[in-house]
Amino acid sequence: MTARTINLNVNGEHKEWSVAENDLLLTELREREGLTGAKYGCGIGECGACTVLVDGQPSLSCLVLAQSVDGCDVLTIEGLARGGELDPLQIAFLDQAAVQCGFCTPGMVLMGRALLNEIPDPTEKDVREFLKGNLCRCTGYSSIVRAILTHRR
Ligand code: FES
Ligand code: FES
Repeated sequence: MTARTINLNVNGEHKEWSVAENDLLLTELREREGLTGAKYGCGIGECGACTVLVDGQPSLSCLVLAQSVDGCDVLTIEGLARGGELDPLQIAFLDQAAVQCGFCTPGMVLMGRALLNEIPDPTEKDVREFLKGNLCRCTGYSSIVRAILTHRR
């Protein structure tokens, strides 16, 4: 495999990675950077647990080749808090008890953040539609949807 050097920003910090053609963004984030918020769930694009934002867009990092994010801004859940303050959406998740085992939570929060950036005043239908690729085994989804809707107010 041919390794190539790429430059990117991860949570606002410049990174230079040497990556092979088949290296995955999820693996590089977790194993190289120690950013374990994005989870390896299914590995085939079905669960959303590995969701990160690439240039502001939700991306399933288990399916993203690391070489393809050369020059991009990558945001993981670890980068969402600013100056030691949780993002208001993270607080809404806590307030609404939208976190149980937490496995899906980083992906859910980042999807919610992307939705609110795109549609600041979403309907419940918008939220459910946006989250349809993110699976949760624990919460029954209602508290997650409520957290996102509550946050917009
Ligand atoms: S681990 Fe990426 S979608 Fe499931
Ligand atoms: S909180 Fe456990 S999978 Fe969602």
